Amino acid sequence: MTSTVTRQTRSGWGPLSSLLLLAPVLLGAPWIAHRQHSSLPEPIVDLINPVTKLPQISEARILGVSKHLSEDIGFRTPGTYEHALGDKWMYEQVVDFKKKCDEMIAESGRKLECEIWRQEGSGSHRFDMMGSRLYKNYVDLSNIVVRVSDGTAEGKEHAVLVNSHLDSTLPTPGAADDALAVGIMLECMRVLVETPGWSPRHAIVFLFNNAEESLQDGSHLFSTQHPVAPTIRAVVNLEAAGTTGRELLFQATSEQMIEAYSRVPRPFGTIIANDVFSSGIIMSDTDFRQFQQYLNVTGLDMAVVGNSYLYHMRKDLVENIQPGVAQHMGENTLAILQYLSSDPEVLPSLTGGYTKPTTVYYSLLGFFFLYSFSTALKLHAALFVASVALATTLFSGSQPNIGGAGKDAKKGKGKPNGIVSTSSELTAKELVRGAVAAILGFMGCLVGANVVAVIMAKVLGKGMSWFSNEYSALLLYGPPAVLGALISQLLVSPVQELAVYTSITLIQSFLALVVQLLGIGSASLLFLSSASLFIALLINPGFSGSKIEISLVTYALGQSLPLITGTMAMLPVLEVFVPLTGRMGADVPADNLISTIVAAISALAVPLFLPFVHRFGRSTLVKAVILFGIASVVPLAIFAVREPFDEMHQKRLFVLRTENITTGEHHLHLSTSDGAPGFQALVHEIAKEFGSGPEESENPEALPEPIVMDRYNSDWDPMFPFSLFLTPYKVPLTMDIGYTSPWTAPGTKFSITAEEDLVDLSTGTRSLKLRVYHPGLIWTVIAFDAHVLKWNLDDNPPNEYTRHHVKEASFYGKDTWSIDLVVKIPNSGRAEDAGILVNFIGLQEQGMWPGKRALLEDKGLDKNIGSTLLMFRDLDRWIEERTEGGIDAMLLGCVAGVERV
Ligand SMILES: *[C@@H]1O[C@H](CO)[C@@H](O)[C@H](O)[C@H]1NC(C)=O
Ligand SMILES: *[C@@H]1O[C@H](CO)[C@@H](O)[C@H](O)[C@H]1NC(C)=O
Ligand SMILES: [Zn+2]
Repeated sequence: MTSTVTRQTRSGWGPLSSLLLLAPVLLGAPWIAHRQHSSLPEPIVDLINPVTKLPQISEARILGVSKHLSEDIGFRTPGTYEHALGDKWMYEQVVDFKKKCDEMIAESGRKLECEIWRQEGSGSHRFDMMGSRLYKNYVDLSNIVVRVSDGTAEGKEHAVLVNSHLDSTLPTPGAADDALAVGIMLECMRVLVETPGWSPRHAIVFLFNNAEESLQDGSHLFSTQHPVAPTIRAVVNLEAAGTTGRELLFQATSEQMIEAYSRVPRPFGTIIANDVFSSGIIMSDTDFRQFQQYLNVTGLDMAVVGNSYLYHMRKDLVENIQPGVAQHMGENTLAILQYLSSDPEVLPSLTGGYTKPTTVYYSLLGFFFLYSFSTALKLHAALFVASVALATTLFSGSQPNIGGAGKDAKKGKGKPNGIVSTSSELTAKELVRGAVAAILGFMGCLVGANVVAVIMAKVLGKGMSWFSNEYSALLLYGPPAVLGALISQLLVSPVQELAVYTSITLIQSFLALVVQLLGIGSASLLFLSSASLFIALLINPGFSGSKIEISLVTYALGQSLPLITGTMAMLPVLEVFVPLTGRMGADVPADNLISTIVAAISALAVPLFLPFVHRFGRSTLVKAVILFGIASVVPLAIFAVREPFDEMHQKRLFVLRTENITTGEHHLHLSTSDGAPGFQALVHEIAKEFGSGPEESENPEALPEPIVMDRYNSDWDPMFPFSLFLTPYKVPLTMDIGYTSPWTAPGTKFSITAEEDLVDLSTGTRSLKLRVYHPGLIWTVIAFDAHVLKWNLDDNPPNEYTRHHVKEASFYGKDTWSIDLVVKIPNSGRAEDAGILVNFIGLQEQGMWPGKRALLEDKGLDKNIGSTLLMFRDLDRWIEERTEGGIDAMLLGCVAGVERV
């Protein structure tokens, strides 16, 4: 054999037959990962295990609780009548639980105590979100609390808190979010207490908090005011942002808690989820934040995240919760509580605070891996060094490689001779060419997918065509990603296959080391991949019989693990991000986001694609380019005619029907939170159908006005600061002649007043109590400009004249709230400038569709108030028919105004 291209020396398998041989790995590895990802336990019905006679988590009972809350009671938005019903029902449950518990104790004399509370309280807190400063004020909200302990003072000294929320957000019945977790907690209580002889060494506090969706007021109330709050050492928070799949651990804030999580029967948590969530890109938050901020405790934050299309939607119903979800979350939660309440050390060890975890963890094929950052660093460093060593032994040649590659590779070391390298030489220069090919390949992959994203969204106007199926974006962006990678290789071809393989191993192991050095545990993904590439490469000569050739067995070995980990990353990331594009706002380039995800994770999943491409030389590469060119255009054509939304993957439409009591005007405000095409056209149709501006019939098409969305747009303050991501339109309405506003009538007027008002011209300040009176209205918001020197919302208002937003949430029937403030009067304190212009808005407690649908049958409903629901019924029906169920509309009756106080 001579230095002619090594192709002839190969086993003789062409590209297609090679792929066929590799097919078991290429298809099998993702299949294994997918199976693992979608595995859920069998749902259990029996409360008692018929074999062991011990109590067990019953999914049937959990779902029964969820169904009662979400369907029998309904939409439990804080401040509504239904919300109060949820509170009452929950209290009855724990009273009943205590009764049974006490009976059991009386019978058995066990070391056990069950205590219950209905906590009620008011307060305020600063709650910054999405980059905006915001304050919350709450009145008489409630929590239901249960403590299970061994009855001793020592047993109660250290407790683990487990939390779920009873309330649901604006129009959603909240079956998964979060009634499911309420059921899980009740079920854990039953199983623990009914287990014969069970007694907790450390207490467990069950918090059924009744105001999470109003921005975590319930957990704030518990953390700042409940008598047992100071005993809490750790928190387990149970949430949902979807209805299917395994419950995901997405925040774990200490070593001890990760250790606790490792005890669960079916772990599903990775440091990657933790890193993604803590980056803030998901734009959501849980009660966990309050426990961290006000109790300063560590914990675990877990949620059901699959099928996130239904998150905060009408269809968050029990019928849409996948069988096995409740069982999975229930058994995992129980295991954590059993461990923390029985282990003598863990909870007490957290008394003096906790340390941020420096732990890498992930679940892989049913195993839970857990090791420290320093171990990870050593591993990654060792791998990188080993990769460099291997690369050095392989690529130290500097003369033509004549047969028996093994021998001459070493001989050539340090003997530069001016020979121009050919593709058969194992020289350092070839390795550099390989690295260039690898880097270009990765970039080409990203570019290829993003070009198609731009074509779809900007050129064809068919953005978000993949929305209705989380994985479908793989079909649209996968082929152009491959095409981009292939085209990039034309620039460098021919390159040695082995050089590309080796350089990818080097680059990945280098990045694994660097990323880990930055303290980002997600580096483990790169580590696992480069480790398997390295090992396969190391033993490759054993299969190929040569150092220069790569055996197909090596491909199979090297590629298996990256395919598994890549698939395990791809599935949850797409499941989270694809539905998320429906609520990220119109300004987010959703197509580019998803195409980048597809391309980047695919590149990670199939690192050996590039060396494989160079295995067969340039003519095969050219053929592959043509093939993938076609393969990219076909899905593009198919996706261009797809509708992004359907009945189970709906567009979010926000509708406010607002009466401005200052001007007497009525408007329909419409907005959406995605950038899919067609919204403007829909708004025009709605305007034509339901709007009635003064210029009627003249040019009905021009009626809806696009609105500038900023901090000064008070129309959308009920949704502030999420509202900043909306794309709103405004349509004027005319009211029936017989309409008289209930919101301006004496005694029930929505108003803002200043009490205890004192202007001090000598200091240029004014102190006052700003009181909001809001009968029949909930979730009121005020926004005003002022230079606040002092107030009761927090200790450090910004020291400047600026805009403030204060939101309220109160228990049903509470119709007034206030804040105390001292402001600096602008313009050097002239008395005539002391007034503050306050924008205010609130939601009609009886004007929320579909939550209040049943009220239409209520004979006692005030006809002025009922007019909102009547219109929503018609509008909702119209939207349903017009879009064939492709839209979930949130329809809220609002009352707003502006007053100088
Ligand atoms: C919270 O606990 C940590 C120790 O884990 C401590 O360093 C920190 O000062 C505490 N913060 C507050 C606000 O108490
Ligand atoms: C109500 O009308 C007043 C006066 O035009 C305006 O300043 C205010 O922004 C309006 N409020 C809302 C919420 O539309
Ligand atoms: Zn929730």
